Amino acid sequence: MSARVGLFVVALVMGSLAPTPPSHAPLPASAPANGLALTPPMGWNSWNHFHCDVNEQTIRETADAMVSSGMRDAGYRYVVIDDCWQVARDANGVLVADSTRFPHGIKALADYVHSKGLKFGIYTDAGTNTCQGRPGTLGHEDLDARTFAEWGVDYVKEDWCHAAKLDAPTQYAKFRDALARTGRPIVFSICEWGSNQPWEWAPRVGNLWRTTDDIEDTWSSMLDNLDQSGQHATAASPGAWNDPDMLEVGNGGMTADEYRAHFSVWAIMAAPLIAGNDLRHMSPETVQTLTNREVIAVDQDSLGAQGILVWERPPELQVWAKPLRDGSRAIALLNRSSAPAKITAYFPRAGLRTDSAQIRDLWQHKNLGTFARQFASVVPPHAVMLLRAIPVR
Ligand code: GLA
Repeated sequence: MSARVGLFVVALVMGSLAPTPPSHAPLPASAPANGLALTPPMGWNSWNHFHCDVNEQTIRETADAMVSSGMRDAGYRYVVIDDCWQVARDANGVLVADSTRFPHGIKALADYVHSKGLKFGIYTDAGTNTCQGRPGTLGHEDLDARTFAEWGVDYVKEDWCHAAKLDAPTQYAKFRDALARTGRPIVFSICEWGSNQPWEWAPRVGNLWRTTDDIEDTWSSMLDNLDQSGQHATAASPGAWNDPDMLEVGNGGMTADEYRAHFSVWAIMAAPLIAGNDLRHMSPETVQTLTNREVIAVDQDSLGAQGILVWERPPELQVWAKPLRDGSRAIALLNRSSAPAKITAYFPRAGLRTDSAQIRDLWQHKNLGTFARQFASVVPPHAVMLLRAIPVR
């Protein structure tokens, strides 16, 4: 399904195009019309690990590490500075970067990131101030969009602090249009934490929209975000993605199994894969998790379908499945409990129309054989088994 057709279907599902326009009618202005993020964006963002402690040296080293670790070759592209880079506006109203932390300015940093074959992202806020009290974009939409475009920004995350009295769909559409007027392709990341039902309007406004509060580096927070974002699968399509928040893989609060589960269910949800750890100091296990190409391929599959929960024995054993372009299914057996448990994936429930399927384990990188009607395995506690099921005719 093309992005435009996908958008149209989503719009129909949302009941926002009534009556049905003739086929030659232009589609409403939309972020997917920017043609970007046809698969979920991949990259890195400073917030989860560094919070306000950002500077140009760290960002440059992060770009270097994205290349040397193999992450760029695995598909990661956007290096995004989150909050706290900005300190004021100048006499012309232009945003000013912290000159102690960014002595060479943002444009020079964007140029450096581009020189590494990567793309550059930045953060602002739709309200008067950012969540950390820095100047927000309210009333400066066109100027900020133009400034970002001049600096060579490829991705903007727009937050929702100090904005409570505003109408979210209106305000975000204003910035979408300001970005479009710059003529520069810029991915638009909406961050209002799912507080204004963004799954109903954001597919026409942004390339991705947060569905939850901020993630924390814990198993329970990660699962909360899975449960919330997992409810909005019908809103996702190429160019427009639910965003359950940035990854915590490698930040130290979860076990290796838990991080593999986190990465797997984000892939099943076709979530943006935005790493949030210190790329300069990664264990081999963290690199292996973040660069598992078979898992990344599930996330980046061009069909662009978000997987759904297809079976559960509440509250702790679940099977999630995601349809893939070639007719196969990615299937996650998720054990949320603290004891090992046998989990069965029933093929018809996972959407497989054939009786038999070849099963491949995407973490072991092993074919497990051909199975009829179902596949079962014991899954360790707080862990996932991620499979690709290829129908056998
Ligand atoms: C909010 C966002 C976070 C981060 C911080 C920065 O909490 O949800 O992702 O951007 O603001 O202040």
